[in-house]
Amino acid sequence: MRTPLIAGNWKMHKTLPEARELVGAIRTGIEQLPDGRVDVVICPPYQLLFPMAKAIAGSRIMMGAQNAHFESQGAFTGEVSVPMLKDTGCTHVIIGHSERRQLFGEDNALLAKKVRAVVNAGLTAIYCVGETLEERERNETQQVVDRQIREVLAREIAPERLVIAYEPVWAIGTGRTATPSQAQEVHAFVRGKLQGIYDQRAADSVRILYGGSVKPGNAGELLAQPDIDGALVGGACLVAADFLAIIRAVFH
Ligand code: PGA
Repeated sequence: MRTPLIAGNWKMHKTLPEARELVGAIRTGIEQLPDGRVDVVICPPYQLLFPMAKAIAGSRIMMGAQNAHFESQGAFTGEVSVPMLKDTGCTHVIIGHSERRQLFGEDNALLAKKVRAVVNAGLTAIYCVGETLEERERNETQQVVDRQIREVLAREIAPERLVIAYEPVWAIGTGRTATPSQAQEVHAFVRGKLQGIYDQRAADSVRILYGGSVKPGNAGELLAQPDIDGALVGGACLVAADFLAIIRAVFH
């Protein structure tokens, strides 16, 4: 059985006082959750990683970064490496978010190096895939997702260190969500691709998250789909009550 995973991608939000308040509220809410299995990861921006590690210490909340360089050190002004992230207490790193692909020109070749850097350092990569609106309208969703998987993942990447997030670009930050059946269809397709790279057992063990305008009101029906194993939440993770409601949806 795959343990559901709810990850919050804070993007470029929150100063230290704001972050302390948010995490304090999430922490309190999580202590009151019903018994049951759920993994929770927060992904704050870089400047908050050390203080947030302190703020979650002793709780079940884990921490991830939103990006990383593929080299472990060197003359790369403005970049942060995976060993540095590990130092802060990060266990996860989001790789290939559509904003990195679209706004910062990250392509599959670069992302292949980044996923390897994360996994080889013993951290878990949350690797994002997803099509744009034009690609969906041209019926190219599977083709695009297939390339994003084929050109980045490979057998040598330990499946235990891998989480996939399917995030249709047209649903991110737009309030438009994929319907549960649209999402399930792509998730099942992704699992089939993982089976081709690894084997059935590994494909059955990798968690595939849905992301794109996940809110308290739609989380339940998305998470009820057989191949949706959690959510990568943007906007709604910045409000403790909403993030907690999405986590609670796992138990329904
Ligand atoms: P959203 O963002 O929930 O605000 O749509 C999701 C994401 O970008 O991971």
